[in-house]
Amino acid sequence: MTVTETTNTSKRSIPSFNREDWASAYCNVEKELKDIPLKIIKGQVPKDLKGTFYRNGPGRLERGGRWVHHPFDGDGMIAAIKFKNGNVKITNKYVRTEGWIAEEKAKKFLYRGVFGTQKPGGAIANAFDIRLKNIANTHVVKLGNELLALWEASSPYALEPTTLETIGISNLNGALKPGEAFSAHPRFDPGHYGQKRMVTFGVKTGPKSTLRLMEFSAEGNHTGKLLSDRKDQFNGFAFLHDFAITPNWAIFMQNAINFNPIPFLLGQKGAGQCLKSKKGGQAKFWLIPRDSGCYAGEAPRIINAPDGFVFHHLNAWEESKKVTIESIFYQDFPSIEPDEDFRQINFELLPEGILKRSCIDIESNTSSVKIISNQCCEFATVNPDYEGIKAKYAWMAVSDKKEGNGPLQAIKKIDLINNTECIWSTAPRGFVSEPLFIAKKHNSASEDQGWIIVLIWDGKRKGTNLIILNSENLTEEAILELPIKIPHGLHGSWVEDIS
Ligand code: CO
Repeated sequence: MTVTETTNTSKRSIPSFNREDWASAYCNVEKELKDIPLKIIKGQVPKDLKGTFYRNGPGRLERGGRWVHHPFDGDGMIAAIKFKNGNVKITNKYVRTEGWIAEEKAKKFLYRGVFGTQKPGGAIANAFDIRLKNIANTHVVKLGNELLALWEASSPYALEPTTLETIGISNLNGALKPGEAFSAHPRFDPGHYGQKRMVTFGVKTGPKSTLRLMEFSAEGNHTGKLLSDRKDQFNGFAFLHDFAITPNWAIFMQNAINFNPIPFLLGQKGAGQCLKSKKGGQAKFWLIPRDSGCYAGEAPRIINAPDGFVFHHLNAWEESKKVTIESIFYQDFPSIEPDEDFRQINFELLPEGILKRSCIDIESNTSSVKIISNQCCEFATVNPDYEGIKAKYAWMAVSDKKEGNGPLQAIKKIDLINNTECIWSTAPRGFVSEPLFIAKKHNSASEDQGWIIVLIWDGKRKGTNLIILNSENLTEEAILELPIKIPHGLHGSWVEDIS
């Protein structure tokens, strides 16, 4: 494991991984644990790191000898890793979704997956079965007393935050209709107008798309209360996984893609495999005025966006009449075709994620874009206190090599203003997931003071480790072994212990 400081983009040509190590992380999570200590194998856990690291991701990838077609189709398994007085314990549980319960009992897949998983029996058995299995596997956030396991095509599942027992589908105090789509990417406004809020959305798409923007109180006695709610209609199909906020705007990027439902209806492909980049299509930014801002009540602004496909944004901010948004762009929508095995993918053939900065001029209705870094990245974050305002620092998961696609094996900190970077790498046998930044103090003059926590897959041990890094210089503070194996996962959040 190495730390390097660099300001250039020198290439490293030595292969940084072998695919078997990477693919060995794809296994079922076989055990559900309750408060089991993690073994410290290096360093010490900072005593002032107090709270719970909640993390979601696919935990069940195989049933009755059949594998999911894409890991994103795996059932949600939540890990709660609790930090107290230098000790760390884990509790983990599958979300008891309706589909998970039925499939556990049947010991086989009973539903098709969005990303191509089929029921046994070929196309005939799958044709015209358009039921959605809410797998609650994408993100986990705490709002008031409820822990919410999120999956964007349907409503959240509420869990008990300590035991992770599934309470059931949540309608958020009546805000959601049964089965209503609810994004897996809420943004937490740290209090731009004096009050913390959870800003999120749901999208109903077709030839026209309706976007519902919702803002919930995220502090005090009114936590979970719906404070603001608006619906806007836009032309065209929309695949919206994430968005960004500033004090005045909620900013979305409508990728230029088409959805052809025929192979899905005929049982040949999952719905997500029917998305294709639209040749000659024009991506758009949608800027929706927030109710607390100075454009409240106005119509959305629709502005041409750069080419490319975006799942995730880093952050956004405003300066006079300009809105800047930083996003991870892919050249194309990365799909796994029906005859491919996700564990055998050739990274070289898939597009890599490139961090870019788009500047949107809301007076001239134009946008321009430039590359921040060419190194393949995903799961980028700023200090959550800087959500919606200009941040100096960002942390993200990156490939070990400087250019081209590769698995995520390193954590990078970028100084977004001076364009310098610092890298911690776990190549060649380690693989990282989403890093979380935890501030040492809030409103501190030092934006980058705190820790990065991240789960890594150790290809040598064939197991999962928790790494704690100093967020200023990415030096290792501690390495801990988990008592369970957790596949490469999706998103998580940190809930501070304020007791
Ligand atoms: Co995401």
